[in-house]
Order: sequence, then structure tokens, then C-alpha cells
Amino acid sequence: MNLINKGTAYWQELDRQHHWHPFTDTQALNAKGARVITRSKGVYLWDSDGNRILDGMAGLWCVALGYGRRELVDAATSQMLELPYYNNFFQTTTVPSTELAAAIATVTPDGLDRVFFANSGSEAVDTAIRMVRTFWAVEGQPAKTWLIARKNSYHGSTIGGTSVGGQGAQRAQGGPNLPDIAHVDQPFWYGEGGDMSLEDFGLERARQIEDKILELGPDKVAAVFGEPIQGAGGVIVPPASYWPEVMRICRKYDVLLVADEVICGFGRTGNWFGAQTYGMTPDLMTMAKGLSSGYLPISAVAVGNRVADGLIAKAGEFCHGFTYSGHPAAAAVALRNIELLKSEGIVERVRSDIGPYFQEALASLADHPLVGKIDGIGLIAGISLVDSKSPKKFFAEAGKIGLICRDHCFNNGLIMRAVGARMVLAPPLVITKDEVDELVSLARKALDLTARDLGRT
Ligand SMILES: Cc1ncc(COP(=O)(O)O)c(C=O)c1O
Repeated sequence: MNLINKGTAYWQELDRQHHWHPFTDTQALNAKGARVITRSKGVYLWDSDGNRILDGMAGLWCVALGYGRRELVDAATSQMLELPYYNNFFQTTTVPSTELAAAIATVTPDGLDRVFFANSGSEAVDTAIRMVRTFWAVEGQPAKTWLIARKNSYHGSTIGGTSVGGQGAQRAQGGPNLPDIAHVDQPFWYGEGGDMSLEDFGLERARQIEDKILELGPDKVAAVFGEPIQGAGGVIVPPASYWPEVMRICRKYDVLLVADEVICGFGRTGNWFGAQTYGMTPDLMTMAKGLSSGYLPISAVAVGNRVADGLIAKAGEFCHGFTYSGHPAAAAVALRNIELLKSEGIVERVRSDIGPYFQEALASLADHPLVGKIDGIGLIAGISLVDSKSPKKFFAEAGKIGLICRDHCFNNGLIMRAVGARMVLAPPLVITKDEVDELVSLARKALDLTARDLGRT
């Protein structure tokens, strides 16, 4: 192979030889070669062969303001010229990290006013785990160590995130996982609700948490961890009855609630946080992704007064943090990102304009023979592909079907992710109505091609 002329084949070969990709079967990838993404603008990406692709996933659920926002680039540039790095360890702070902490507190629910920085969603989750367990220890209840989460939830890929997460394949690698973590069933009505009404099912799934607390003993349970909507698990939108009941249970047994807002935060569901959409009043919230629109890595934990005050008053030094906690350039970008989300009214637009338009446009796919149900809110959605709609029958080889559809999307200019046989979408929050129409027509084309491959047409 001629490796002198740089181009797709050159990069694919370098990649094959040296680059180990996250969440990837490397053998399978190397057999075909990675798609090389080279540039971007708005909701579009281009690959190294010049193909334009509508990014229906905002990268990995993160590019809220879309690609190519000069304001975010300028924020990073000026900050890096002024002060490219300093840490927040040695009784020092930097202007962007301090101002960002305050800016986050302007959009979090009341009472979550203190912010601890990290660099990824996974690190934020690890931070929250350490905070809730330390909180109970300093409150004189050191036996309160158990965490309850849901099966099929995703909370990141550090050992803490993997342990609290509920994805079997991930948890099976690299264990033993952290002790004292229990998982209950997820609130996925279409997949697991049987004949129950949506509302009853939501209550039943919430009460599994109560049963688990009682089984372990309320004096042993530190916290419940949950994504308001489970994103990487396939966009599992809970019934309206679910979170209020979980709240009631947490309060009754004095168990903390950690809302993992890494995907739902910063407008995706039409409010600043998914907790506001679903009636949760969490004690802590983890956030990342949309915090900086993914332009630079940064994450945070917003901590409610009870936990923050307890830890600050009684724990002494909190022995936790990262070299890049509150990195000034990333903080400057996140600060500008929040300003733009506010000044452009983007959260409101997702709630009352583009979000409803997107959901309605997607609903037009419900007549497709492969589409069992579409769930979503704001600019996040999951589409269940089924073998038969009525009677409802799921595909035996769900993963295979999803990948067929995903590949047809990619090959026809759309990124739609597959989670088993559930196709998921979370486009940039700045997507226009014309772009939504284009997305939906590309999705229909991919569904048609999938049906054809299955011999359904
Ligand atoms: C809900 C949730 N928590 C945590 C994470 C981990 O974030 P990161 O990949 O930045 O570590 C993710 C990533 O998708 C997520 O969706």
C-alpha cells in the first residue's frame, strides 16, 4: 500500500495498526477499516471521502450547540493565551472555573448550589459515589454504603461507573466490580410492561427500589443512582408515575438520590435538566457532555445543600480530585456554552418548538412495518424495531437487526445509533425543522433498506 499519499486508506491503516477504539470489537473493525471523520458544520459531518452525514447523535449526545461554533473556539483560544492551565488544589482557583461553578448554580434546581469539577461523565459518577458514601460516614452512619441502580443503565466506564452501571456485558469484564451495589429492573414499559398500564408499571418498577431498600435495610442504603431517561440503554423513557414514586421512597427511607444528567442535562429534554422534566428533586446531579457541547472535556457534580454542608462541615479534606478538575480552557468553553444556551433561548426552543416538531416528525415513522414504538421527549428518542407489531414480537437477534439499520443509516448520510434493536437519536439542539425533515426521511430510507434485507418487501 502506498502510505505516502495521505487519504482514507492511509489513515485506516495507521488506525488498524495503532489505534485501539473504545467499546469496539477491534478485530471486526480492522477487517473493514474505520470511517475517518474529517470536518463538521452545524449538524453535519464529512468523512475523508467527502461524504456528508447528518449527525443524529450530536457526536455522543454532546454537541448541543452543533459543530463549528466560533464563540466556543474563541473562548478556548483567549483562555489558553491568558492562562492555559492552573489547578484548583492549592487553595487557589481560576476565574473560569469559579465563574462556571456559579453559572451552573444558576441553572440547577434550587438547593444544588455547589459544584465539583471533573473531566468526564464517568469521573463525575465516581465523584458522586465517593461523596454519598463519605457523607453517610461523617453523618455517623458508616454502614450506609449500598447503592441501588437499574439494570441496563449506563453510568460510565471507570470501575465506579461500570459497577454502578447495569449493563451485563460491560460489568462482566475486568471485575470484581465495587461491592455493595444492587440493581433493579428498568422502567421500560414497551419491552417489559406486559399487560400492565403505563402508570401501574411505573409504580411497580419504582417499588422494586423500595423492596430492595427493605431487603438490604434502610440503614445500609446510601443512594439510588438513575438517569432521568436511560440514554445508552436505548433511550428508556420512564412512565410519568416512576420518578415521583422513587422520590417518595427515597425520602421515606432517607436514601439520597443521584440524578445522572450526563445525557439529559443542558436542555436535551426541554428543561435544563431531566430531573426537572420528570419531577425528581435529586440530592446530587452528575453532568458532562452538553455542559461544553463536547468542545472540550469537562464534567461536574452539582451537590445539594444537605450533602455539601455535611461534607464541608464534618469531612475535613475531601481526598478526591483530578489534575484537570475545572481546567481553565474547558471551563471557559463551558461558561460560553451556557451563555449561548441562555441567550439563544435553546432550552425553551427544545421544550416548545423544535422538540415537539422532532417528536411529531418521528411519529410519522410509526406506520413502518419494522417500527414497534417510538418513545421520546425534546430532542431524544428511541425507536423499537420489532419482528411483528401485533402480536408484539421482538427480534431474536436484536443486535444484528440494529446494526443492519445503523449501517444503512451511515451509508446513506445519517448517524442513528443502534442499541440492540432500538434505534436512538439525539441530534444537536440547534437542528432546524428542514434538517429534522431530512433526518426523518433518511431514517425511513434506512428502515426500508433494513426491511428489504430481511426479505420483508
Ligand atoms: C448517563 C451517563 N453517565 C455517565 C456517562 C459517562 O460519561 P463519559 O463517557 O464522559 O465518561 C455517560 C456516557 O455516555 C452517560 O450517558
